[in-house]
Amino acid sequence: MTELVRFGVSLENQLLQRFDARLKEKQYTNRSEAIRDLIREDLVKKEWQENKEVTGAITLIYNHQKRQLLNRLMDVQHDYHDNILSTQHIHLDDYNCLEIIAVKGRPRQIEELYGKLKSAKGVKHGCFAASTTGRRVI
Ligand code: NI
Repeated sequence: MTELVRFGVSLENQLLQRFDARLKEKQYTNRSEAIRDLIREDLVKKEWQENKEVTGAITLIYNHQKRQLLNRLMDVQHDYHDNILSTQHIHLDDYNCLEIIAVKGRPRQIEELYGKLKSAKGVKHGCFAASTTGRRVI
């Protein structure tokens, strides 16, 4: 089991009050877990900056009736098959599709893949959640 250490932090009262208010909004029940998450977020950001192997999820919303768009999205995904772990396609209604693409690899390649998918003509919305393989984050 990982050893836990305690440490003291000095900061302005007003800053702590604001921090506590944010914790409440974000549903944290104690400061320790919130501080751990801030540290983890910073470590994940560093993995992206240092071009380590990372993971993430690409979300796209598009109209499946645009056949050229479907071909384009498929071509791009085949070009990056080494980076794609899985693709989930959900038919939202008669026209709109939600696609969630789980990705893994080097940040440059993941960003390139996301850029090509999001910028495809006819994609209504795209967003990306950057994450980690979990190996360098405790
Ligand atoms: Ni669909």
